[in-house]
Amino acid sequence: MPHKFTTLQLNSEFEVYNNENDLPATDFNLLQQAKKSLVKAYAPYSNFLVGAAVLLENGSVVCGNNQENAAYPSGLCAERVALFYASAEYNNIPVVAIAITYKSSGGMMDSPISPCGSCRQVIAEYEEKHDKKIRVIMGGETGKVFACNSVNELLPLAFNRKALI
Ligand code: THU
Repeated sequence: MPHKFTTLQLNSEFEVYNNENDLPATDFNLLQQAKKSLVKAYAPYSNFLVGAAVLLENGSVVCGNNQENAAYPSGLCAERVALFYASAEYNNIPVVAIAITYKSSGGMMDSPISPCGSCRQVIAEYEEKHDKKIRVIMGGETGKVFACNSVNELLPLAFNRKALI
């Protein structure tokens, strides 16, 4: 007996920019803030420096970078450092966008960063919290930049508060 099922196809849509100079001005400026922040990362174990800049609806920009620890899992990614700080400092202000970039001693720096699963989940939480989509701008040292208008493009079928409330 063949199993009965239908197939659900999920499509993701990203804007692809050949380099950061092609970005809309607000995205470009946010990415520059992320680049400025990555040099302050504390990443002695991976030497993989990540910077994130979060734009809030009131125009404030909050930056963060990765913070590592000798007990590896105790560290935190740049995106979550920035988002948690933004939420702690401006708890009622929606997030409009997050720009992320990196610098690696490993050489490969010209492809856009791909945020880890936990960071995607956290971005999704703040979209839900304020019921407002967050634009995600993903860059590298040089080369292409990807952008999308919601974390949903990066994390379809995300677990969210609707399951709990
Ligand atoms: N990292 C980030 O900060 N953001 C990402 O999107 C990917 C990874 C950090 C975590 C760790 O400090 C280092 O990069 C290597 O994984």
